[in-house]
Amino acid sequence: MSGIVNKSADIRKIAVVGAGYVGLVSSVCLSELGHEVICLDIDRERLTKLLSGEVDIAEPGIAEWMTRNAEAGRLSFTDDYRKAIPDVDFVLICVDTPVDAFAEPDLRNLRAAVYGVADYISDGACIVLRSTVPPGTSQLVSGWLGNSGNRSISIAVQPEFFQEGRALEDCWNPIRIVVGSEKEETALLVANLWKTREAPVVVTDLATAEMIKQASNAFLATKISFINDIAGICDAVGADIDKVAEGMGHDPRIGFSYLKAGIGFGGSCLPKDLRALLHTAASKGVAVQQLEATIAVNERQREIVLRILSEHLGNLTRSSIAILGLAFKPGTSDLRDSPAIALAESLALAGATVSATDPAISSEIALRVSGILKFSPDAYSAANGADGIVLATDWEEFKNLDWQRIADSMAGKIVVDGRNYLEASRIETAGLKYIGIGRNS
Ligand code: UGA
Repeated sequence: MSGIVNKSADIRKIAVVGAGYVGLVSSVCLSELGHEVICLDIDRERLTKLLSGEVDIAEPGIAEWMTRNAEAGRLSFTDDYRKAIPDVDFVLICVDTPVDAFAEPDLRNLRAAVYGVADYISDGACIVLRSTVPPGTSQLVSGWLGNSGNRSISIAVQPEFFQEGRALEDCWNPIRIVVGSEKEETALLVANLWKTREAPVVVTDLATAEMIKQASNAFLATKISFINDIAGICDAVGADIDKVAEGMGHDPRIGFSYLKAGIGFGGSCLPKDLRALLHTAASKGVAVQQLEATIAVNERQREIVLRILSEHLGNLTRSSIAILGLAFKPGTSDLRDSPAIALAESLALAGATVSATDPAISSEIALRVSGILKFSPDAYSAANGADGIVLATDWEEFKNLDWQRIADSMAGKIVVDGRNYLEASRIETAGLKYIGIGRNS
């Protein structure tokens, strides 16, 4: 992937509030397109790093693109709203929007960012919400802006659709550009910021743009829970879920993606966004059985491994289990809502001793995860003396392990493939018992 500075499009002055993975990736791509971008983050530690060219998100290529654009004078960083906001045409708000313990979206960071912007924004500028927000949030933003005096400030919603680990690629080559605003003219101006990218543009009202983001994540999550339900039936009737998904996927109406069965989805987006959507539905009195089932199936998948291990090892008290992979998916060190972490905690609660390894995670971080007693540098030392192994993240590093070496060092024989990623025959040749999810094993 190589970027090209866009010399023909209108060059705009843009402020981006939040230098997390959405804000930083958006800033870098917009500056690569030739716009003049100032990125604001109130986190001093992060800002100091960014000012010295260091990036704290693991996105391939981002450091190089950031340095190139900073050196060219198109990208700068600050923590000062007074410096970032007054002269810009667009303010992209990219702060995090977590859900609280009751699944209620916590919009405090968003509100603080809007207040910070409101004091300095110029007449005619546009605030663009990039953060994933519950439907209706853009209306709240209007309220928080309050009395803007004689200033006319427009609001747009332009959701991001980045996958962690390939966010730069997803931002630079978007599959679609969705922009919502009360005025079509405003939406088109926002879409135009990205105009040299070849992607269909969907222009909507504000609430619809917010819903497109939420519905997209909910649909991906639902595909995963659907295939996990089908995997359960495959196990019962002796069918192979991978082949079922392959056979289904050839139908373009279905497609191949997000049909990988296993221990379910995690991360900072799909689970959180689903809970937020459920909260919105409940607050409006709307019945959403499908979405509730998507969450319930995902929670059940996290327990399936525990059940399989108990079936083969009996009482898990004093058993020793090695978990291969802790991140919520390969290519990231992100542990947020990772099924592997939930598994480690459940195993520890059941009395098992848990060892773990992950190529992207330091022992210092892993040992902070409750339940993990030993962190190993690789799969071989994690498996040493274990009664059972669980593959929880489909890292390439685990694809071609020497299973004979592992079998020789284990106390037991069970290998549970929570991601349907390993080759059963190689594991069984080493004298181990392979168990996948819906793989007829
Ligand atoms: C997700 C969406 O894919 C992005 O489009 C969206 O922009 C992003 O959330 C967001 O809202 O910011 P991400 O959180 O990076 O991206 O995660 P995914 O790559 O979608 O994976 C989510 C989880 O589903 C992982 O735990 C993965 O292992 C699991 N998964 C994925 C499956 O279990 N089966 C599959 O077939 C695919």
